Amino acid sequence: MKKWKLAWNAALTIFAVFAITVMVPITGCTKKEEDETRTVIRFVTWKPNQPEVWEEIFRRFEAEHPDIRVVREVGPHSTTAFHDLLTQKLKNRSPDVDVFFMDVIWPPEFASAGWALPLDERFPHSEQEKFLSGAILANSYKGRIYGVPLFVGSGMLYYRKDLLKRYGFTPPDTWQEMVEQAWKIVSEEGKQRELYGFSGQFKQYEGLVCDMMEYILSNQGSILNPKTGGSEIAKPAAVGAVRFVRDSIIGAIAPKGVLTYQEPESIALFIQGKAVFHRNWPYAWEMSNNPKRSKIVGKVGITKLPHFPGGTSHATLGGWQLGISKYSQNKKAAWTFVRFLTSKKIQKCLALKAGLAPTRKALYEDHEIIKAHPQFWDMKEVFLTAYPRPRTPLYPALSNVLQHYFHKVISDPNSDIEKEAFAASQEIDRILQLAQ
Ligand code: GLC
Repeated sequence: MKKWKLAWNAALTIFAVFAITVMVPITGCTKKEEDETRTVIRFVTWKPNQPEVWEEIFRRFEAEHPDIRVVREVGPHSTTAFHDLLTQKLKNRSPDVDVFFMDVIWPPEFASAGWALPLDERFPHSEQEKFLSGAILANSYKGRIYGVPLFVGSGMLYYRKDLLKRYGFTPPDTWQEMVEQAWKIVSEEGKQRELYGFSGQFKQYEGLVCDMMEYILSNQGSILNPKTGGSEIAKPAAVGAVRFVRDSIIGAIAPKGVLTYQEPESIALFIQGKAVFHRNWPYAWEMSNNPKRSKIVGKVGITKLPHFPGGTSHATLGGWQLGISKYSQNKKAAWTFVRFLTSKKIQKCLALKAGLAPTRKALYEDHEIIKAHPQFWDMKEVFLTAYPRPRTPLYPALSNVLQHYFHKVISDPNSDIEKEAFAASQEIDRILQLAQ
């Protein structure tokens, strides 16, 4: 009897060990098998402004494509920092990247480095024609296409409708008018509360190049000469525009702190009701009118950016595309995902819920979108004519010089702008010669 009991106990122990060492892996195995039947694609993305909208989109994708699982790697919000993370992975031919977001300035670089997969067969001309031509051009390099545009951006001027009205102003046409209106409103209103005249993006990063280019172009200057391709930043028109920003914007109508602002900090000031004017991309409209975040719902106007006397308004072309890594092992599933995200229905959802400006032309005629976001219709011209940053594979190097130059001269009220512009200009010409 005792022997039998011992044998029984031993049998129980053996079963328990078996259960732990074999059955757990079996359960694990079942899970693993389930995963293995799905294709996993890795998507390198950034932290979105409206996470709930993106969550909904990912849920919709997985419901429609139960055979594909999307694993997201969320990079930094700043395009400059995001570029560093993504290019490091692509340089290492990392298998951790199938699909990635590309800023509108990157396709030439990603194409010439061989990181982005050419998409011509999947994204033929007949499909490309349905998208805004500026966005298609930005994704093309040496006759091939490397990205599918998801949403576009262009710089716009947001303003406090209520405050301008209170002082009898209409939205300013020139930068000088904007500055005068800002001083007047702040000198009166600012007696009771914290209020600044302007907020924009002036930290040393890519956004600074976007903002500064708008001042320069609207003073009849340019970054590069459209014909010769040489640097124009030391020319009087460009230098004059930069001087205006240093003397009349930074630490004047805008707080000195804007020198550390990217998009999130600059819009935070505006939606807290602490700035009269604000420069930002189209999505700022939704954020300014979102009661969960903004204190100025219904008080916001939107218009073209001002210009200098004799010049015309110019907006920098921004926006994001989806690319597929040349080293992806799952190109078919990656394309299914890209096609889904850039489809009409998802672009419509992003326009309606996140205020992102579509790249598909048809959506600018969509009644539901126009009703919810009449500014897309009103500002259509600005989207269509937004000005691209220089299109070269060496853009990151060029931008680096510009960021450094702009930030240095606008941070120091005594800076020698001509001298710094000349040095930066020479540096840019030297970089561009490398490309020839
Ligand atoms: C926005 C634009 C992008 C630009 C960036 C600068 O994300 O879409 O093109 O480079 O802002 O901060």
